Amino acid sequence: MAVQINPSILSADFSRLADEARRVGGPGGADWLHVDVMDNHFVPNLTLGVPVVESLSRAADTPLDCHLMIEEPDRWAPAYVEAGAGSVTFHAEAAAAPVRLAREIRAKGARASMALKPATPIEPYEDLLPELDMLLVMTVEPGFGGQAFLDIMLPKIRRTRQLIAKHGLELWLQVDGGVSATTIERCAEAGADVFVAGSAVYGAADPAEAVRSLRSMAEE
Ligand code: DX5
Ligand code: ZN
Repeated sequence: MAVQINPSILSADFSRLADEARRVGGPGGADWLHVDVMDNHFVPNLTLGVPVVESLSRAADTPLDCHLMIEEPDRWAPAYVEAGAGSVTFHAEAAAAPVRLAREIRAKGARASMALKPATPIEPYEDLLPELDMLLVMTVEPGFGGQAFLDIMLPKIRRTRQLIAKHGLELWLQVDGGVSATTIERCAEAGADVFVAGSAVYGAADPAEAVRSLRSMAEE
């Protein structure tokens, strides 16, 4: 289970996205760049859309992990694959037909991923896991960077890891929200292997060093 660190550009300077992407790349740097797409409906915040993802995918040397916090992902997710995202995450709460959507994302050539808000249990989705390349367990209520990590999500991370093992799947288990030097070890111990970090990376004096240091803490 290789550890991956995905800095979230939500905490970066939006006027310099290409530079901010390159700041965390390079050897030992970010595995993916996490791009938070918010539509002001699914979450009470608005960020960026397809044209920005398209430009960023050309400018960044790191593949894009697009987290769609939007209504109607069935309608919009394919456009993010076409815009160059290597992984597209839709929310279980918003998808009308998650199996069809995951298959469409894969057929278009990206990794398909599904996210669960804190109050959404994993159990109803057990049979869907083989359709996915990654499952995202949110460790804050989606919408904003810089929120406090929700410890109460650790049992869900653990149960999800057990379900992945039970079915013998290769699925990655991502955590997003409040992941930092003080919380990453607990997430790793519970079974997460892909770590999104916004403020803990871009709020650091040296973001590339923050990525390396988070990685070594998660690997222990
Ligand atoms: C929150 C976003 C996160 C956010 C994480 O809704 O999905 O990706 O950028 O930021 P931090 O790491 O600061 O909690
Ligand atoms: Zn996110």
